[in-house]
Amino acid sequence: MNMDHVASQGLMLLGCGKMGSAMMAGWLNGGLPASSIWVQDPAPSEWVQAQGVHINQTCPPNPAVVVVAVKPQMMGQALPALADLGGGDTLFISIAAGTPISHFETVLGASTPIVRSMPNTPAAIGRGITALIGNNATGADHMALAEALLSAVGQTVRLEREAQIDAVTGVSGSGPAYVFHLIETLAAAGQAQGLPADLAMQLAKATVAGAGALAETSDETPAQLRVNVTSPNGTTQAALEVLMDEARGFPPLLKEAVAAATTRSKELSRG
Ligand SMILES: NC(=O)c1ccc[n+]([C@@H]2O[C@H](COP(=O)([O-])OP(=O)(O)OC[C@H]3O[C@@H](n4cnc5c(N)ncnc54)[C@H](OP(=O)(O)O)[C@@H]3O)[C@@H](O)[C@H]2O)c1
Repeated sequence: MNMDHVASQGLMLLGCGKMGSAMMAGWLNGGLPASSIWVQDPAPSEWVQAQGVHINQTCPPNPAVVVVAVKPQMMGQALPALADLGGGDTLFISIAAGTPISHFETVLGASTPIVRSMPNTPAAIGRGITALIGNNATGADHMALAEALLSAVGQTVRLEREAQIDAVTGVSGSGPAYVFHLIETLAAAGQAQGLPADLAMQLAKATVAGAGALAETSDETPAQLRVNVTSPNGTTQAALEVLMDEARGFPPLLKEAVAAATTRSKELSRG
């Protein structure tokens, strides 16, 4: 079971908003024919309509994959229409936050291969990271296919247990927003030190993007990279004494923030 299987049997995409469109762009770029994709969406964007995919048409009886990319609150309305595809060879991949595998099993049947995943917004530029976990009916070939499809928008990682997805949501799912806020506050702090707003924002964006790329590509750990740029009694050390403060710096703040997101993810899964 591979991308040729998807090309011949077809892929159904339920919900083609921001995430669905990002994935579809990756699949088309990767060579999946537009004629193999069936999109279900009440209001497909102009971009979706221009791709040559099937839109709101009856999908083939036995598609290789159904990718579920509707908002969690639309799930109850959208999923029952697909119940007939459960219990067969069709692999279901969900990217919906907060919808547990058990919910899909209730609607589709527990013998349905179901992969639950958690992507993040840099998927929009192919730089996302998606964590995956399959149910008991998911075999090695299903996982490999899910990885192949989700790697169209960035890196993938496999989880050991579904329960880990709440912490993943707290770190990488919601994490881009923490970094956006870091950029905002770094720029505002630069302004407070007398820089023009535009210049401070340009410095903050480039610093976060550049440091992120360096941390990802370097052989050294982020901790070592930090030490490398911290001269004794220098400017960086002065700032890090504030940021690394165990009582009020990044360590307690991020721990609390990630815990809050993880707790909220658990609450949402319980419905
Ligand atoms: N964005 C992220 O960073 C992120 C990260 C991790 C997980 N996710 C998950 O990804 C999923 C999609 O998020 P998104 O940001 O792409 O949302 P989105 O842009 O709102 O896309 C959802 C799409 O589904 C369509 N839709 C609504 N009801 C439908 C139905 N009954 N049948 C078929 N399509 C339907 C919506 O159409 P209308 O606009 O007309 O309602 C919309 O085009 C969510 O479950 C979210 O939890 C998103």
